[in-house]
Amino acid sequence: MDPNRLKGKNILITGAARGMGAANAEHFAEQGANVCIGDINLDGAQETAERINKAGNGKAIAVKLDVTSREDNAAAVKATVDEFGMINVGLFNAGLNKPRFFMDIDEDNWDLIMNVNTKAMWLGMQETARQMIAQGKQDYPYKLINVGSIASRKPLVDVTVYCTSKYGCLALTHCGAIGLAEHNITVNGYAPGVVVTPLWEQLDKDLVDIGFKQREGQAYEDIVNDALQIKRVSYPDDVKGTAAFLASPESDYMTGQMIHIDGGWCIQ
Ligand SMILES: NC(=O)c1ccc[n+]([C@@H]2O[C@H](COP(=O)([O-])OP(=O)(O)OC[C@H]3O[C@@H](n4cnc5c(N)ncnc54)[C@H](O)[C@@H]3O)[C@@H](O)[C@H]2O)c1
Repeated sequence: MDPNRLKGKNILITGAARGMGAANAEHFAEQGANVCIGDINLDGAQETAERINKAGNGKAIAVKLDVTSREDNAAAVKATVDEFGMINVGLFNAGLNKPRFFMDIDEDNWDLIMNVNTKAMWLGMQETARQMIAQGKQDYPYKLINVGSIASRKPLVDVTVYCTSKYGCLALTHCGAIGLAEHNITVNGYAPGVVVTPLWEQLDKDLVDIGFKQREGQAYEDIVNDALQIKRVSYPDDVKGTAAFLASPESDYMTGQMIHIDGGWCIQ
């Protein structure tokens, strides 16, 4: 594999202050990409960017980005282009979860999750594609990468709204691939299972709070024992290779695909 396979690629990553977004940003830059770290947590975004710039391969900038705002998405795209000259790849990673049993879902829970996970993905894709179209066709495709989940294909009763939002990410991947093909923009995604990040650490606590699990740590154990073929949880390092593949020329002939990186959960 070319160790500099992302050289010349300028990539906007949302939600990259921490967790998988930060790991992907660092991995992209190790392979030569320039990255714009967009997050509602500007301090965290700046820390990720500083680590990348200190490491000294690809360059990084940080921007404050609330993904639910069209203006913020447009500004993050503009910041990427102002700094690096153009944008080649958008990775729509920002997301959150807040479990509720079906009859306990209220409008606040619905709106919070659907806005950040799904509506914001559409906004980010559209504003990034708008810039790509304005840049004109190249002899390689521009790429949009959507972060789905095991919950993009599996109904999980304790996280109904999260499932709805992530099924939506799958639909945006399929429809975007068809709708943007004429502009030489591909749309793919990846779908993690259980990844140890701040999101899952909070979810583990929340599942006890709503009474779905009796103690912290039980959700991890039950999923490993009952659902996974590979008998361990995963970490951001397990995901970053697939994200880099989707950003690289190696995936140029793919579009409309959502790759599961979930230890075999989705085949059950
Ligand atoms: N951790 C898992 O097990 C898991 C599994 C499947 C899918 N995912 C998905 O992977 C993605 C990354 O998750 P993670 O586990 O790294 O989470 P994380 O909580 O560690 O990181 C999420 C990042 O998104 C940012 N963010 C939240 N709301 C935002 C907003 N409105 N605007 C901009 N940024 C915002 C947060 O500040 C944070 O930096 C999410 O889309 C998540 O749904 C996670």
